[in-house]
Formats: sequence, structure tokens, C-alpha cells
Amino acid sequence: MIVAEHLEQTYLSGGRPLTVLHDINLTVEPQGFVAVVGPSGSGKTTLLGLLAGLDRPTRGTVRLDGQDLAALSEDDRAAFRADRVGFVFQTFQLIPTLTALENVLVPLELKRGGAAGEDQRRAHDLLARVGLGERSHHYPTQLSGGEQQRVGVARAFANRPKILFADEPTGSLDAETGHGVIDLLVELNREARTTMILVTHDPALAARARRVVRLSAGAVIADEPSAS
Ligand SMILES: Nc1ncnc2c1ncn2[C@@H]1O[C@H](COP(=O)(O)OP(=O)(O)O)[C@@H](O)[C@H]1O
Ligand SMILES: [Mg+2]
Repeated sequence: MIVAEHLEQTYLSGGRPLTVLHDINLTVEPQGFVAVVGPSGSGKTTLLGLLAGLDRPTRGTVRLDGQDLAALSEDDRAAFRADRVGFVFQTFQLIPTLTALENVLVPLELKRGGAAGEDQRRAHDLLARVGLGERSHHYPTQLSGGEQQRVGVARAFANRPKILFADEPTGSLDAETGHGVIDLLVELNREARTTMILVTHDPALAARARRVVRLSAGAVIADEPSAS
């Protein structure tokens, strides 16, 4: 489902090149559930962005669901993501001028699949499942960080992605709400057969994954079945 080979990412930092990922090789089977862990600054967010096709690597290749991302134009990559990929951003990235419901509807509009009424029902249902059924008409500034994160989770599932990436999806949640989101992720991995890659510092969430990949200073230093 995901095959990354010899991935390298180098940024220009104050005019000097800074390599933040070194020769990453990673394969994730269909319906796999992988937690990526590691200290702050180790390259987790950068890796997720490359695997999801949000950014292009300096070197190396990513194949997602059989498609070499480098072979696609920017527009085609966006269309590919709209069709098959969901992403929960560490910094939420909600559109401030849209309500919670409208934010969740964005991927459905990009995919232009079902009838509008059906999309509305699905968006409402997803918001209810993350505990925000009563807040669907609120704007991001009217929501707490944890609530915005849950809107981001609902939005990531809206297009029924084959592959879901989530960057610290429980990082802004209290323990109880975090467990609700973890249950939702596990359920979608099982029922919707979604392949999932998530970054987390949360031991409860890492334990629910089937495999844990550990990054340190931009390299994979361990790749093992999870303790669960
Ligand atoms: N756009 C960028 N330009 C320059 N440096 C960046 C950029 N994005 C990330 N970095 C650097 O890359 C390293 C890895 O960052 P990141 O992937 O966000 O790590 P993590 O998610 O593990 O905390 C950090 O040193 C960060 O400062
Ligand atoms: Mg990060």
C-alpha cells in the first residue's frame, strides 16, 4: 500500500542545507496500522508529509496504492489525495471562515461523489462520532484546541480514505476524549480497512497500532511489532 525507498529531505535553513531525513525505507501493507514515534525534531511530520504526497522528497520515491507520486503533476497529486488519502494535521489546519460542518464537507466537495444531502448526513455523523454533534455550526475560533483537533479527525475520514495519515491526533486531547478518538481510529482501520500511519507520543495509542517505527535524527532506528 505504501512503499518508500531511499527517502531524503533536505531543507535550506539560513542559507545552509539541513538534511532532516536520511535514506528512509519503509513498506506498509494494505490495512496496516503503524505508529511512528520519536523525539521532537526527529523528522516525523516531514516523513508523514512525504508519504502522503503533501511534499516532494529531495531524493527517493514514494509509491502509494501502486502510484509513483513523483510521476504526478501537483494537480494530479491533489486529485489523488482527494480520492484516496486522509490527513490529520498536527496544527489542525481548519479553514477559519468555515464552520466545523463545512470544514468536514470540504473533502467531500473535492471528491464530488455523492448527493449533497448524503454528504451533509455523513459530515454530521462524523462530527457526532468525535463528540461534536452540538458544535457543527461553530467556527474554529469558537472551538478549543482539542475540539478543533476532533474536527480535523472527522474531516480526514470524510472521503472514506484508503490511507489515513494522522500527526499526533490525540496530542491536544484529554485522556477520555483521546480514548474516544483512538477507538474511532481503530474501528475505521478494522471496518473500513483503512491503512493507517500515525505519529504519536501517546503510549496508549502506539500500543493499539500493530507496528511501531522509531525515528531518531531523521533515521529509522527501530521497526517492530507493537507491544499489544
Ligand atoms: N520547512 C522547513 N524548513 C526548514 N527546516 C524545517 C522545515 N520543516 C521542518 N524543518 C526541520 O526539520 C526537522 C524535523 O522536523 P519535523 O519533521 O517537524 O519533526 P517532528 O515532527 O519529529 O518534531 C526539525 O529540525 C525542523 O526544524
Ligand atoms: Mg511533528
